[in-house]
Amino acid sequence: MTPRTGRHFLQIPGPTNVPDQVLRAMSAPVIDHRGPEFRALTLRLLEALGPVFGTSGPVVIYPASGTGAWEAALVNTLSPGDRVLSFETGHFSTLWREMAGSLGLETGTDFVPGDWRHGADPEALAERLAADTRHEIKAVCVVHNETSTGVTSRIPEIRRVMDETGHPALLLVDTISSLGSIDYRHDEWGVDVTVAGSQKGLMLPPGLSFNAVSDKALAAHRTSRLPKVFWDWLPVIEANKQGSFPYTPATNLLYGLEEAVSMLREEGLPNVFARHARHAAATRAAVRGWGLEVLCLDEREHSGSLTAVVMPEGHDADKLRKIILERFDMSLGAGLGRLAGRVFRIGHLGHLGDLTLAGTLAGVQMGLELAGVPVESGGLGAALERLRGE
Ligand SMILES: Cc1ncc(COP(=O)(O)O)c(C=O)c1O
Repeated sequence: MTPRTGRHFLQIPGPTNVPDQVLRAMSAPVIDHRGPEFRALTLRLLEALGPVFGTSGPVVIYPASGTGAWEAALVNTLSPGDRVLSFETGHFSTLWREMAGSLGLETGTDFVPGDWRHGADPEALAERLAADTRHEIKAVCVVHNETSTGVTSRIPEIRRVMDETGHPALLLVDTISSLGSIDYRHDEWGVDVTVAGSQKGLMLPPGLSFNAVSDKALAAHRTSRLPKVFWDWLPVIEANKQGSFPYTPATNLLYGLEEAVSMLREEGLPNVFARHARHAAATRAAVRGWGLEVLCLDEREHSGSLTAVVMPEGHDADKLRKIILERFDMSLGAGLGRLAGRVFRIGHLGHLGDLTLAGTLAGVQMGLELAGVPVESGGLGAALERLRGE
């Protein structure tokens, strides 16, 4: 095989490209996680993390992938048999619901059906909550950005509906592919538990995940009866006060986290969100210029972090991805679950500049042509015009 030159283009919607300065920060020697240097790092980190979540409350860090933080959100707040309402927005909302069922929560009738092309429906939520006059639904779970579809749910509207119906359920939100790339505000939007992961907008390798926790969620913890040991918030929150953890933390990932958070702060979160929105708009311009269809159907819900593209009938998205990988050394996201082979996903989140996006879209355009997909040639040009124009 001819040796590769240049960098691999990792344009899946996470894990994302890790900036060199984050890699360098992580390459520092491992230190004593009970020593003064590490304690100081933990205290600095916890302070710096709050603004990224938009919270002044506790943020619990786990040495685990996002799936662990999903489980933590449920076991810390709920009891066996509690009803949990969720929305069929795509692959990840479906998996989170299945997890809730496996943990002994009641999910049977409380799954709002969806077509995987729209976000969580506030009107459907209003109806379901109004019908639950005995307040048996204990939590509403929403995936903010459905990584499988490129659709971003409107969390403030979900919150508004919950407030208007006066329903006391907790609001649990998965921001695994939105935190640090799409506007998100834990406190202001009245979210009770925010679930996040390190490997997407936070520009780190996989391996850390998070729960931001409201006072109401902490109160729910006191009465919740699902078993929890490793995932229990309280020992972590207690130990964190002294700058330590109740287990061996992922020292070097935490070095990287401090660097990544400082990069976000330096750019300024509003600028980070605007950059992602702009890259997403340029990507949609490319897709439309090729004469293809974006999977997301609601203009208000286009994701800033990825775009899922529908393949024309009779063309296989995985064949296209294989050609692009072999010819141009670029990885694109596969269609997940029921979308397998029918869509491909362009990740445009994390550490990304205009020319990385332009290169990505050039690779997609050439791949489409090589795969014999009937496309118009104006996609890349339309994207460049967007990038140049704003
Ligand atoms: C929205 C969303 N939720 C949950 C997960 C699961 O996280 P992990 O694979 O880190 O366990 C992912 C992974 O991509 C995701 O995108």
